[in-house]
Amino acid sequence: MKTKIYDIPSLENIAGEAYNMISKDIDKAFESATKAILEGGTVAFPTETVYGLGANALSAKAIQKIFEAKGRPLDNPLILHIWNRDQLEGLVLEIPEKATKIMDVFWPGPLTIILPRKPEVPDAVTAGLSTVAVRMPDHPIAMKLLKQVNLPIAAPSANLSGRPSPTKGEHVVEDLNGRVNVIIKSNETKVGIESTVIDMSGDVPTILRPGIITKGQIESVIGRVQMDQALTEKDFQGIPRAPGMKYTHYAPKAAMTILDGQADDKKIEKINQLLIKTENISAGIASRKPALVLSEELARMLATGNNTSLTVYTYGSRRKPEQAAHAFFDILRKCDTECVDFIIAEALPDTDEVGFAVMNRMMKSAGHNIIGV
Ligand code: TXA
Ligand code: MG
Repeated sequence: MKTKIYDIPSLENIAGEAYNMISKDIDKAFESATKAILEGGTVAFPTETVYGLGANALSAKAIQKIFEAKGRPLDNPLILHIWNRDQLEGLVLEIPEKATKIMDVFWPGPLTIILPRKPEVPDAVTAGLSTVAVRMPDHPIAMKLLKQVNLPIAAPSANLSGRPSPTKGEHVVEDLNGRVNVIIKSNETKVGIESTVIDMSGDVPTILRPGIITKGQIESVIGRVQMDQALTEKDFQGIPRAPGMKYTHYAPKAAMTILDGQADDKKIEKINQLLIKTENISAGIASRKPALVLSEELARMLATGNNTSLTVYTYGSRRKPEQAAHAFFDILRKCDTECVDFIIAEALPDTDEVGFAVMNRMMKSAGHNIIGV
C-alpha cells in the first residue's frame, strides 16, 4: 500500500502570517486524512500523549485494518477518540456522575475513561467486552481531524505491536509506512507516555493503566480511586482488567537490566561491574554494544573514562519524572537504531506517581529484569 505522508507543524503555536504561508499544506493533509477515514481507511496522527493510528470506530471493517497494520492481538480493545461529549450518547449506556466530574476537569486531556457500552459499538473495538474506552485528546491536529470526520475514531498507539509507542512522526513512518493510508507527521508529542486509563463502570473507580494524570489528582476530584491489582501486586498471576496490559510491550532489541536503589555510588559500582562483564563476553563472542539510560544526576557522577563505545542517554532529572515520561520511548528506539544490544537503565523512584507510570513502561521493556543495589 502506498502511504501518503504529510509533514505539518503542530497547529498550536501557529497563527496569522505563518499559518497563511502553509495553510495549503495543512488543508491538503486534512483533506486527505478525512477522506481516508470516511472511506474506511487508516490514518496516523499526533495526540498529546503518543501518535495514534485511527479508523472509523463504527465500522468493523475499518477497525480490522488497524489490527492488521499493527499486528495487534484481536483480544486487545481500542480507545475511541471524540471531540465533543455529545458523541458519547451513541457509544455508552450511561455516564455516572463521577465520570462526568473527571471529564469536566481532565478533558480534553490524557485520561481514558471506561464506561458500559452501547451495542452500536462494534465488537471488534471492544474485543467483545461490555465496556468501551473513550477519550478526548488535547491536541489541535487530533481535534481538527475528529471534528472534520465527526465520527468517533478508534486509535491505538501508532506502533507495530510490541514496539515502543511513537512520540515522533519519524517513529510512525519507521513502523507503519506502507501499512496505512495516511500519516500526519508533526511535532514530538508533549506527554510521551500513553493516557491514564480509568474504569468508571464498576463500584470503585479503578486505574488500569497509570499515566501522567495521577491517582492523587483524580482522587482530589471524586474521592477514592483504586489501582488494578495487576499494577501494584508483585508477581501478580491473574489477568489484568485492561487486556493490553498483559502483553510484553516496548521491548527494545537489546537485553535490558534495570538498576534500583538509593545510593548513587552503589549504582555506579554495579554499572561498572556489569560493563566489565560485557567486555569479557564481547572478547569471546560477537561484539556487545552497551548503553546506559540514566537520570542526569547519575550521568553527571559517572566517569565514562576511555570507554568510548559506551552510549549514555539521559532521561532528565529524577526529581522531574515527567521529563522521563517524555523521553523514554524515544530513547528505546534510539537504542534500536544504534544497534545497542545491552541496556542498563536506572529506575525512577516509584513513590512518585508519574515515576510509577514511567516505571510501569520501563519494567515491561526490560521484561521485569530488575536488580536492587
Ligand atoms: O494515549 C493513549 O491512550 C494513546 C493515544 C493514541 O490516544 N492510545 C493508546 O491506545 O495507548 P492502546 O490501544 O495502545 O492502549 C489502549 C489500552 C490497552 O491496554 C487496552 O487493553 C485498554 O486500553 N482498553 C481499551 N478498551 C478497554 C476496555 N473496554 N476495558 C479495559 N481496557 C481497555
Ligand atoms: Mg499501544
